[in-house]
Amino acid sequence: MQDQRALLTATLEANRASFDDRWKSTQHTEGWFNYPTALVWQYLLCIQDILNMRGNLVELGVWHGKSLTHSLAHCRPDERHLAIDIELRDGLKSTIANSTLQDRIVFRKGRSTQPGLDADAPGPYRWIHIDAGHDKHSVLDDLKLWAPRLSEGGILVMDDFFNHRWAEVTDATFEYLYAYDHNIAPLCIGANKAYFTTKAGHRLYRDFFRGKFISEYITKHTILDYFDLCIFNFECLCFRPPLSQQHISP
Ligand SMILES: C[S@@+](CC[C@H](N)C(=O)[O-])C[C@H]1O[C@@H](n2cnc3c(N)ncnc32)[C@H](O)[C@@H]1O
Repeated sequence: MQDQRALLTATLEANRASFDDRWKSTQHTEGWFNYPTALVWQYLLCIQDILNMRGNLVELGVWHGKSLTHSLAHCRPDERHLAIDIELRDGLKSTIANSTLQDRIVFRKGRSTQPGLDADAPGPYRWIHIDAGHDKHSVLDDLKLWAPRLSEGGILVMDDFFNHRWAEVTDATFEYLYAYDHNIAPLCIGANKAYFTTKAGHRLYRDFFRGKFISEYITKHTILDYFDLCIFNFECLCFRPPLSQQHISP
């Protein structure tokens, strides 16, 4: 696994300049997507790159395309990035106007639970970002519809999980995990988002999270507060009793 980590370090370094350019190009784009989160996405998506994980990507709630830009960068020529929002704003169009990857995006205007939006970019998805309606019913409905389409080892990103301003996101996510889906479990949490993968898929990521590997990578590039530092930790798998009692593949 030392080799895998070395490969990840090399991949992150090799992609450093393009990551910096991407961040600079979206720095002033309207939205809430922050720099530590961009670093975490780069880390996780580079892991998927070196694992040669395949599948489409999807974002529910696109706004002006700030987060979309960062996941799109990892979308391969034979993959599609589904981007769903009730409104496709001018700000979104200008954000992706200069992207060389825009032909890989499938934009769909509509509610995230509307049937048929995935026709041109079907699952299973290796990356699902849920960032649309933040009330309990919206989040629960999004999870029920989209999370079962997560590929083995794919990553489900929940925006605002454990953000006290959006308590219903946390409530809905716990309800979903407890009552509807025993196939996924949390991987890590930080910088306002939580990351889940399938239980069998956990083993793929485990060594990339061992020790201080990810926190050293994050802190090398940015200053995080104590809260964020202590939660970039694989132990967060056990943060909820019903999940800790379920089996996760070693
Ligand atoms: C927080 S913003 C998304 C921010 C974006 N992911 C980013 O980080 O740059 C939420 C977006 O969800 C959209 N939205 C809200 N409810 C929705 C729903 N039920 N279906 C689809 N989109 C929805 C809003 O129009 C808004 O653009």
